[in-house]
Amino acid sequence: MTFPMPDLSLDELRAAQLDHLRVTLTRAYELVPHYRRAFNRAGVRPEDLLTLGDLARFPFTTKEDLRENYPFGMFAVPREQVARIHASSGTTGRPTVVGYTAEDLDTWADLMARSIHAAGGRRGDLVHVAYGYGLFTGGLGAHYGAERLGCTVVPVSGGMTERQVQLILDFRPRIIMVTPSYFLAILDEMERQGVDPRRTSLEIGIFGAEPWTNEMRLEVERRAGLDAVDIYGLSEVMGPGVSQEAVSTKDGLHLWEDHFLPEVIDPFTLEVVPDGQEGELVLTSLTKQAMPVVRYRTRDLTRLLPGTAFPAFRRMQKITGRSDDMMIVRGVNVFPTQIEEQILKVEGLSPHYLCVLTRPGHLDVLTVRVEAHADTPAARWRALAAELVHHVRGTVGVGIEVEVLEPGALERSLGKAKRISDQRPRA
Ligand code: DLL
Repeated sequence: MTFPMPDLSLDELRAAQLDHLRVTLTRAYELVPHYRRAFNRAGVRPEDLLTLGDLARFPFTTKEDLRENYPFGMFAVPREQVARIHASSGTTGRPTVVGYTAEDLDTWADLMARSIHAAGGRRGDLVHVAYGYGLFTGGLGAHYGAERLGCTVVPVSGGMTERQVQLILDFRPRIIMVTPSYFLAILDEMERQGVDPRRTSLEIGIFGAEPWTNEMRLEVERRAGLDAVDIYGLSEVMGPGVSQEAVSTKDGLHLWEDHFLPEVIDPFTLEVVPDGQEGELVLTSLTKQAMPVVRYRTRDLTRLLPGTAFPAFRRMQKITGRSDDMMIVRGVNVFPTQIEEQILKVEGLSPHYLCVLTRPGHLDVLTVRVEAHADTPAARWRALAAELVHHVRGTVGVGIEVEVLEPGALERSLGKAKRISDQRPRA
């Protein structure tokens, strides 16, 4: 085996998790002033953890906590022992800074190697990495994981789409790692150049860093003739490789529970919900050295399911969206992924779309701006718009406006796509 995949029974896994969790809580309490204060305020001590379920007594950690401790206040080791820094910018304010010891980087590379392997990658494969390199964790995370697995890595990063196509044609990668929205831009560019995406060397796409639906999977697989699998992660908890979908089952993402303990909570009551029930994913790191995280509220909505391809590890269902991305239109909760699902059912529309929220009078209006396919005659656009309105009303239960646009009219993202433009007046 070229990557570490523990061969643990469920009992052994739970016992190891409890041991690691005790150590993590103790280190957080003793070494990070923020955790000491937060535990004291909640009236809990690391030694109160007797079972995994006792974790529910410990306080949550949020992005705001990380911001308040900017830049290095959440570190549990002296800065000199931090081998690398990453940061995520977010939409407002200070970036969130995260740190890794050399050992953390090693674990991350192992888990990414495991993820790429679960996605179908093997030693010797050529891997085209089009996730952004830099403070964003996507590029470097994918890079070191692919190297660890024994692959040949092409560190292209995002952007310069014409050159991406050229390198894919010339170097013949088997695997591409990229956000699904930027992959669509690469596919469009191939078609513009007269290249048939189904005839390239690509066999596997490892797509993540943003929500994408099963309908998008089918669309991408049909257009590109590859297996599209989902990868999840977040900087605060590590970066990509927290969970990964297996190519053999394509049924949600296996959480690498030997390193992360998942919980799902009701975002309103903050109570832990049973497996199978949808809610907000909360993650606790079990082995991180530089920056342990305790009950980090990801804001990502999913549910936990039993393991399949790797039976000891639970799966998380494909992410529906972030609680921050929920639009409330006339009282109905709507996520961009629900709109995406419906767009992909309308033949003639492309999956390049933006949800625009306005408030012309007293009520919010959701306008979906979506591009037509290049070969859809403009005379059909009105009918396509009407069809989308009809589908969204029938499934999501909300009335929307639709503007069909020319191919290429919407700005392309080089990384994470922006799906919502909120143009409502500020209260
Ligand atoms: O996006 C890490 C990553 C890089 C994951 C490359 C996968 C591939 P952040 O920039 O900190 O880290 O953003 C984390 O992105 O909380 C989710 O909201 C979203 N996200 C990440 N992966 C997925 C996914 C990276 N597979 C935030 N599906 C997370 C849906 C995802 N959303």
